[in-house]
Amino acid sequence: MPNVDIRGFIFDLDGVLTDTAEYHYLAWQKLADEAGIPFNREKNEALRGVSRRASLMLIIGDRPYSEDQIQEMMARKNSYYVQMIENITAKDLLPGAIALLHELRQAKIKIAIASGSKNARTVITKLGIADLIDSLADGYSVQKAKPAPDLFLYAAHQLDLNPSQCVVVEDAAAGVEAALDGGMWAIGIGPVERVGKAHIVLPNLAGVTWKDLQFRFIHKLSTS
Ligand code: BG6
Ligand code: MG
Repeated sequence: MPNVDIRGFIFDLDGVLTDTAEYHYLAWQKLADEAGIPFNREKNEALRGVSRRASLMLIIGDRPYSEDQIQEMMARKNSYYVQMIENITAKDLLPGAIALLHELRQAKIKIAIASGSKNARTVITKLGIADLIDSLADGYSVQKAKPAPDLFLYAAHQLDLNPSQCVVVEDAAAGVEAALDGGMWAIGIGPVERVGKAHIVLPNLAGVTWKDLQFRFIHKLSTS
């Protein structure tokens, strides 16, 4: 039986540590409404964890927009999003997030945040968790966005760990796919229909402890 030798946690940000996924959705909804393009929460599910440009492409489909228009729409969506996150604080951390970060630090587990967002650094600073992490991989770090494993591999490298020593915590199907493709352990946050491919699926981080997760990973290995 292979060893479970977890030394690092790589957290996605939007939808895992804080509910900015909702603001991304609201900003896209505003843009789609202005452009007269049908869009709703259900369609937004396909955008979860997806880069800014790829998200816009999914919204516009085969409608013929020029590159200039695409650039303008991406900038406009981002300005709505930046406005929406203006007033976030530590109160916007999702339940259980801070306790788990503290427990991991105490256990000397390395921590990275790997988010495809170019706004990740701002969000982390506003949430007051910059001092709790060892590394940040964001929308500026790699070329290929999730579902490519590049961002998580970059984060593991930053932590000086092998992929198999890292657990990725993700709320997006694209992120779980990226983690598995990168040879990492995956914890999916959300419904099984979305993150069911992860090794462990949890509804959220409330009450989640490193102690319990360790047990579950070991149990997972012994039964697989
Ligand atoms: C991801 C979000 O973290 O970042 C996506 O889950 C978002 O919804 C992507 O599109 C890019 O973010 P930004 O802030 O650079 O537009
Ligand atoms: Mg996410």
